Parts: sequence; structure tokens; C-alpha cells
Amino acid sequence: MAKILGMVSTSHVPSIGNAIAKNAQESDYWKPFFSGFKPIHEWLAKNKPDVVIVFYNDHGLNFFLDAMPTFSVGAADQYMNDDEGWGIPTLPPFRGDANISWEIINGLIEREFDVTTCQKMKVDHAFTLPLKLLWPESDTCPVITVPICINTVQFPLPSARRCYNLGKAVGEIIANLDSDLNFLILGTGGLSHQLDGERAGFINKKFDLEFLESLAQNPTWATQFSIEDLVEKVGTQGVELIMWLAARAALPGEVRQIHSTYHVPISNTAGGIVLMENK
Ligand code: DHB
Ligand code: FE
Repeated sequence: MAKILGMVSTSHVPSIGNAIAKNAQESDYWKPFFSGFKPIHEWLAKNKPDVVIVFYNDHGLNFFLDAMPTFSVGAADQYMNDDEGWGIPTLPPFRGDANISWEIINGLIEREFDVTTCQKMKVDHAFTLPLKLLWPESDTCPVITVPICINTVQFPLPSARRCYNLGKAVGEIIANLDSDLNFLILGTGGLSHQLDGERAGFINKKFDLEFLESLAQNPTWATQFSIEDLVEKVGTQGVELIMWLAARAALPGEVRQIHSTYHVPISNTAGGIVLMENK
């Protein structure tokens, strides 16, 4: 039986890529964010996941407005990164495992999540940078990856409850896999931010902290909110925090929170990081 070790959730912003390229992790601006990964590096060194399931949103690299799947899953042995327009350095290809992906896809479709299957899939900063933050010392990402992409770019978006249930289904499927591999779940996006319009620069610390507080012991708390409520509370891009709900829901049983940080801002975003493990 496959084992789910735990989950990490983190904000993603393109400028993390520039900070890494310029070796600016220890600068006054970036240190509070990058230092939040130290306890995670220690935990990863001890727990050694083989496979990482990444819940993230594409920002116009693999999907554009003309054809936008609500949920899509990568089913390839390799995923290429490309520059979707931020000018950040491109990272080397990420290893996939089409067999593991198809097990997850089959399980999701059996459970009535009719996902788009992608045998070719480019991955953007929301996928690549969080993995780089987890394994900064490796030139190439040392684990097998499965991209699960949730649309937060073009309305209508899936509800928080639907994303939670998607994550729960993924957790059940992994727990039933006939495999001795160890899995980590990664959610990327949020916390509050809005990049455009009259509220550009909007941050809601009070809501972010309530959300962080709920995640370990009351993870369905945020599913009470509609997508429109969430946009109002955390901003048009802050709604990416539904990835954290999907990732959290994939953990079966009791969880223990090992680490959490909250720092405002990284770029235009309230930066959050969480690590939880299965008890
Ligand atoms: C920023 C945040 C994002 O989530 C993103 O995808 C792009 C930019 C930012 O804060 O600059
Ligand atoms: Fe984003």
C-alpha cells in the first residue's frame, strides 16, 4: 500500500525565481520567506517522499482562455517548464510517471471527477518554483511528480467544496495504490492577493490567519464560502488558496501540524507556508 506522508502548502510568485537566480534568499526582503522552508527541508530529509502530487493553477502557459479545463491531470513521464512571460529562468524538465498518473485519473473518473487528461503538459511557475523551494540543492527535481491543475484563471471556477472533495478523492486513490512508494501532497497558490483592478495590492491578513488556523483541525471551514465570497475576502488571485484545501483534503485521518509561517508581502502576495504530517 502506498503511504501519504503529509502535505506542504506554499504561496507561489514568479519573483521567487528571480530571487533564486540572483542568490538573494538571505536578503532582508526575501529572508523571512525563504527561511520558512528550513524546517521543511529537515522534514523532507527524514521522510524522503518518492512522489509529489502537485495541486496548482496554470497561468496561461499550458492552457489559455480559449480552452480552459476545470480540472486537469498530467499523464506523462516528463513535464517541461517554459517562460509564460515573467522572464524568469526556465527550470530543467520534471520527472513524471504516466502509470501512477493513470491510476489517479482512472480513480478520479470512477469517482465522477471528469478530468482532462494531458499526455503532454507544460508546467509554469506555480508548479516549478514550489518544487525548487522544497529541493533547492538539486539541479533537477529529485522526485516523481504528478501535476493536478485547477482552473482559477477564467470563470466559472470550481467551488472550494468541490476542490476539497477532489483532494479527498486523490487521497483515497493513493491510499489504495498497490505500491510501496511514499507520497507527499503539495498545494501552491494564495494566500490573499489581487494583481489587477481597483483593489490591486489587496491583502486580508485577518482572513488568511483564520484560514491557516482552520486547516489542521477544521479543514472544511473554508468550504462554507462560495468562490465569489472568496474573491471578495482574499482577492481575485488569492482564490488560489483552494489548492491548499485540495492538498489538505488528500491527507487521511488525524494530522499533526509541524510548521507554519505567514509573511506579508512577497511581491504582491501574502506568503504562507504550512507543513503537516499524518499522525
Ligand atoms: C504574483 C502572485 C501570483 O500568484 C502569481 O501567479 C503571479 C504574481 C505576485 O504577487 O506578484
Ligand atoms: Fe498565481
